[in-house]
Amino acid sequence: MTDTSLNLAASQILNALANNELRPVVRTFFDQATFTASHVVHDPSTKSAAIIDSVLDYDPASGRTSFSSAQNIVSYVKENDLHIEWQLETHAHADHLSAAPWLQEQLGGELGIGAQIITVQEVFGKIFNADTRFARDGSQFDKLFHDGNQFRIGNLNVTVLHVPGHTPADMAFVIGDAAFIGDTLFMPDYGTARADFPGGNATTLFRSIRRLLSLPGKTRVFLCHDYKAEGRDQFAWETTIEAERAHNIHVHDGITEENFVKMRTNRDATLNLPTLIMPSVQVNIRGGHMPEPDDNGTSYIKIPVNKL
Ligand SMILES: [Fe+2]
Repeated sequence: MTDTSLNLAASQILNALANNELRPVVRTFFDQATFTASHVVHDPSTKSAAIIDSVLDYDPASGRTSFSSAQNIVSYVKENDLHIEWQLETHAHADHLSAAPWLQEQLGGELGIGAQIITVQEVFGKIFNADTRFARDGSQFDKLFHDGNQFRIGNLNVTVLHVPGHTPADMAFVIGDAAFIGDTLFMPDYGTARADFPGGNATTLFRSIRRLLSLPGKTRVFLCHDYKAEGRDQFAWETTIEAERAHNIHVHDGITEENFVKMRTNRDATLNLPTLIMPSVQVNIRGGHMPEPDDNGTSYIKIPVNKL
C-alpha cells in the first residue's frame, strides 16, 4: 500500500488486534423506523466514549420530533458510567435526523463530521434556497475531519478515512480494530450504498470501497444501515473486511470498477428517495438543528417541487 492514511489505519488495527486493551467495546442501537444503526463505542480501560450516527425520532405527518431512540442511548451511557467525548457523524444522512445536539445537551461531547460537509451545504443550500442565515462553512460542527486525521478516545487510537461517493463528505472512523464505515458497504448479502444523491458518484464510491477493503481482513466492520437481505430474518450491522471481500454481492474481489458502476447506476435508477429525505437533509446539514425560524418563531421544513 502506498496510501498514507490507510497505512496509519491498518497498523492501528493490527496493533489493536494484537492487544485486547486497544479494542473498543461497541453497543449498537438499531432504529427500525429508518433502518439505522447508531453505535456507542468505548474504551474499556477509561470509559471514554463516542456516539456515532444517532437518530432523532421524527413523525413526518405531524412534523413532531421525539427522543425515545436517543433516550435509549442516554440510559445506556449512564448505566455504564461512560464519558462521551465525541458525537460523530459519518455523513449528512438523507434518511434520518441526527439527535446530536440533544445528546450533546444530555451527555456532552464534540460534534464532528467530514470537512466536505461544506460542499454538501453548498449543494443543498441551493436546492432548498436557504437564506443567508444558513452558514455554508461547517460552523455548525465543532470539528471538521480530513483524511488521515488521528485522535484518541481514552487510550483508543482513531484514524479518520475520507470515503466519498455516497455523498462527498463521507468519512470512516477506524477506532482500535473497529471501522465505522457509514454508507459505503452494507452487509455482504445486501451490497453497497446508493450513489445517486446530489454530489454522489458511483466511480468515487467504488474507489472508496476498494480502499476500505484493503484494511486487514480481521477488522471489525460496523455499518450505518441494514435492510435485511432476501432470505435473512434478522437485522445485522457487524461484519469483517474478509467477509466483505469474499462475499459482498456488489463488490467482492474480482468485480471491476466498470461492472460496479454499471450495476450501481442501474440499481439506483430503480430506487425511490428515502421517506425522510426532506427533513433529514435540511436538519443534518445544520448539525442536527432545525432550519432558522420564520418571523413567527416557527421552523419549517421545505419541499422543493419537481426538483429532486
Ligand atoms: Fe446515508
